[in-house]
Amino acid sequence: MSRKIIEEKFKASVANNSPTDWFHEVYRLAAEGTMEVPWDDKSANPWLVSWLKRNPLKPKTKTLDVACGLGDNAEFLASLGLDVSAADLSPQAITMAKERFPESSIEYEVADFFTPPSHFLGAFDFVSEVYTLQAVPDSHRLQLLQGIASCVAPNGLLLIVARHRPCGSPKKTTPPFALEKEFIDEVLKLGFKRESWEEVVDAYEDTPIYRLIASYRRN
Ligand SMILES: C[S@@+](CC[C@H](N)C(=O)[O-])C[C@H]1O[C@@H](n2cnc3c(N)ncnc32)[C@H](O)[C@@H]1O
Repeated sequence: MSRKIIEEKFKASVANNSPTDWFHEVYRLAAEGTMEVPWDDKSANPWLVSWLKRNPLKPKTKTLDVACGLGDNAEFLASLGLDVSAADLSPQAITMAKERFPESSIEYEVADFFTPPSHFLGAFDFVSEVYTLQAVPDSHRLQLLQGIASCVAPNGLLLIVARHRPCGSPKKTTPPFALEKEFIDEVLKLGFKRESWEEVVDAYEDTPIYRLIASYRRN
C-alpha cells in the first residue's frame, strides 16, 4: 500500500518540478498516522553498522549524518562516541527524530543538501550518506552528491550506502533508484580518492537487492 502511495506522491512531485516535495508528504502522512515511513526500520542501517565495526573511527570525530530521517543512524553514530550533527530537509522528520530520541546529545536540524548551510561546508571529518542519493531522480542526483561532498573537511571521509545497479539491469522510474558505479565515482572529480568499495546482496521478498558501500577520502 505505502509503495503505491509513494509512487503517486513521487510522480506528482516530479510533475510539479520538485524532486523532494514527496518527502514532506510522506512525513505528513506518517505524522497523521495514515502511513508508516517506508524506510523507518527503527534501527540503524545494518550496512552502516557493519562497515563501522570494520573501520572504527576515533572518538569525537566530527560526524554528519546526511538526511537523517527519524534519527536511528545518527543515534548509532553518537553511541560510538562520535560528535554527531544530523540534518534533514523535512521539518516534520526532524520533529519526529527529536521526539523519538528526547535525551539525544545530537543537534538535529533542518537543512537542504542541494545547497548545504554555510556552517556545514568543509566542516566534517566523517560524512555518512545512507539511502538519500538513491531517493532523488537522475535529474537532481549529481547536485545532491556535490552538496553532500561539500560538507567533508580536507582529508575527511565520505561514506555512501546505496542501491547499486549492476551493468545491464533494468532502470526503475520511481524510488528507490539504483545507482551506477559511474555515478558514484563522480565524487572522484570533486577532489576525492576512493578508499573502499563493497558490493553486497540483500534479499527482500525473495528478490535480490544489490547494494554498495563505498568510502572516499577528500584530498
Ligand atoms: C530514503 S530516506 C533515508 C533516511 C535515512 N538516511 C535512513 O537511512 O533511514 C531519504 C531522506 O532524505 C531526505 N532528503 C531528501 N532530499 C534531501 C535534501 N536535498 N536535503 C536533505 N534531506 C533530504 C528525506 O527527507 C528523507 O528523510
